[in-house]
Amino acid sequence: MKFSTLVSSLMALAPFSAAAEIVKRATLTQVTNFGSNPSGARMFIYVPDRLQPNPAILTAVHYCTGTAQAFYTGTPYARLADQYGFIVIYPESPNSGGCWDVSSRASLTRNGGGNSNSIANMVTYTISQYNADRNRVFVAGTSSGAMMTNVLAATYPDLFKAASAYAGVPAGCFYTGTVAGWNSTCANGQSITTQSAWAQTALDMYPGYTGPRPRMMIYHGSADTTIYPQNFNETLKQWAGVFGYSYGQPQQTLPNNPSAGYTKYVYGPNLVGVYGTGVTHNIPVNGALDMEWFGITGGGSTTTTSTVAPSTTRISTTTSSSRISSSSSTTTTSTPSSCTAPRWAQCAGNGYTGCRTCASPYKCTYQNDWYSQCL
Ligand SMILES: *[C@@H]1O[C@H](CO)[C@@H](O)[C@H](O)[C@H]1NC(C)=O
Ligand SMILES: *[C@@H]1O[C@H](CO)[C@@H](O)[C@H](O)[C@H]1NC(C)=O
Repeated sequence: MKFSTLVSSLMALAPFSAAAEIVKRATLTQVTNFGSNPSGARMFIYVPDRLQPNPAILTAVHYCTGTAQAFYTGTPYARLADQYGFIVIYPESPNSGGCWDVSSRASLTRNGGGNSNSIANMVTYTISQYNADRNRVFVAGTSSGAMMTNVLAATYPDLFKAASAYAGVPAGCFYTGTVAGWNSTCANGQSITTQSAWAQTALDMYPGYTGPRPRMMIYHGSADTTIYPQNFNETLKQWAGVFGYSYGQPQQTLPNNPSAGYTKYVYGPNLVGVYGTGVTHNIPVNGALDMEWFGITGGGSTTTTSTVAPSTTRISTTTSSSRISSSSSTTTTSTPSSCTAPRWAQCAGNGYTGCRTCASPYKCTYQNDWYSQCL
């Protein structure tokens, strides 16, 4: 199956000159034959028209209630793929509520048959199908997708070279023993332990592995009331422990980096934390910084990034219905009158037109002006 044959969407741009230029642009495409898919996750892929030879791969993992399409349109990665010629894989959760399974023993175990296993199989399929560069395979995610990013780093450290996690939790912190469970102890920032204990939790997901591991960039906002900011500290402890750094002693603390209000904590070449003061769970994806972290631009230096342009895109981290960064989207105005939103679904927010009543016993809980959630 050639995906390029499916990539047929034409997009007309309208420059100010009289002759309108037609620019062909690849489209997001579902792949159903990527191999073993024990957990039923869906695979979507974005292959830019101008693909580099031996391209890099970025696995971009959505938030709860998100979709591949929502993460494709709501983050800068596809446009960056157009620019730099890499492939983006957008996995899509098969679980009700659209969260990733980061809570069952299966998904927290290498080749355990959970969602992490399915995503890893999407990546190995793409490497062979597109003759991609094994040394440039990356993963990034937001919220539930950031939790999965940490889980993938722990379960498949040999597959990924660098990772970027926005508003997640340490690998294993969300354990409940059920598929796609919600561990509120962890979410509320009450799962607190030592760096060696967190490191062991990660190491136990692929016992005996001694090879290289992905470089980790951990983002969080201080005003996150969905996944409490203590999870920033705990996640840094985890990877500091894995890499042999000391959580309490970053090598560099860089205020107002990468932009005003953020502080960057550089532990060394394998671990960086980015903490946004006043930033909520709707933490913006910093495409430019991620490209630099992955080495797609700038050589991957961790210490010379103070001049990164703030080409951030504000995405709604938990809803598929808002298109905050899109200037051309239209919204329908009818609100379904008698429907219920399931647990974890969106139930209110600027521009939101879906169900506003939460399934019992959940309450519509305000998170920010764009997003309230059934909790
Ligand atoms: C939630 O995770 C913590 C570890 O982060 C664990 O101690 C606790 O038992 C988990 N809660 C549930 C309900 O499984
Ligand atoms: C967690 O990290 C942030 C950012 O470095 C820091 O301001 C805060 O004091 C830390 N919290 C704890 C409990 O150490």
